[in-house]
Amino acid sequence: MKLKSILFAGLMAASLVAVGPAQASEGHGVELKHAKVDTTDREQLRRGLTVFTEVCMGCHSAKYVTYKNLMDYPELALSREEVDELRGDKPLTAGLITDLSPEDAEVSYGKVPPDLSVMANARRGGADYIYSILTGFEHDPEGKIPDGNYNLYFPGNRIAMPDPLSWLDHDEADTEMLEQQAQDVAAFLAFIADPHQNERRALGFWVVGFLIVLTIVLYLLKKAVWADVKH
Ligand code: HEC
Repeated sequence: MKLKSILFAGLMAASLVAVGPAQASEGHGVELKHAKVDTTDREQLRRGLTVFTEVCMGCHSAKYVTYKNLMDYPELALSREEVDELRGDKPLTAGLITDLSPEDAEVSYGKVPPDLSVMANARRGGADYIYSILTGFEHDPEGKIPDGNYNLYFPGNRIAMPDPLSWLDHDEADTEMLEQQAQDVAAFLAFIADPHQNERRALGFWVVGFLIVLTIVLYLLKKAVWADVKH
């Protein structure tokens, strides 16, 4: 009996380690919107990469992700031709670096856009936060912050980033597409912030499965060993 409870406790502890802490999803007083992201969905990640390179990279870098990574990560698995087209004459080992210089950014926006390599891990809410920010450009209800600088989800509401997906003046018909783009790029950013998350999760399942089998084997063994002992 004791052996069983010890093994059970061990198993529980192991599953907690494997699954990891759940991510909280509230922002700065306002509840974040929930992003439908799947960091194992190749189609979504590739669409997100396209939004990143075509829109976000106009201002932001993701310097810890190289063009070679885009081929090597099995979740993205770009072909050599696709990567060559993206990188132009930049080396394969170069990071995804914006052409906007920090000086020009400072002049235009008063701020240097932060690197987005690990942004999804650096902010509470991760992908939900990024998705919410991208779809959170609104008219300031108090009329103090000018249009384009007011964001419902940004701390303090005044953001130096111009509405990158033109959420504010979008057409109703575009809503679905904008929602999709915002979720896709949030998925891509959540993936690159921790590109080995899926491998680790898969390993966690194997470890837990192994422990379950081991528990059963040890229990049967214990029964067999004690079977002949008179109580
Ligand atoms: C025209 C330039 C520009 C483009 C394009 C742009 N950004 Fe930004 N971004 C900024 C600037 C400037 C800031 C700094 C905002 C601030 O601190 O007020 C910023 C900040 C951010 C932040 C950080 C918010 C925080 O909590 O500090 C995120 C996340 C972000 N951008 C995501 C994106 C994504 C995703 C895209 C592409 C869909 C994108 N940006 C496109 C200029 C840009």
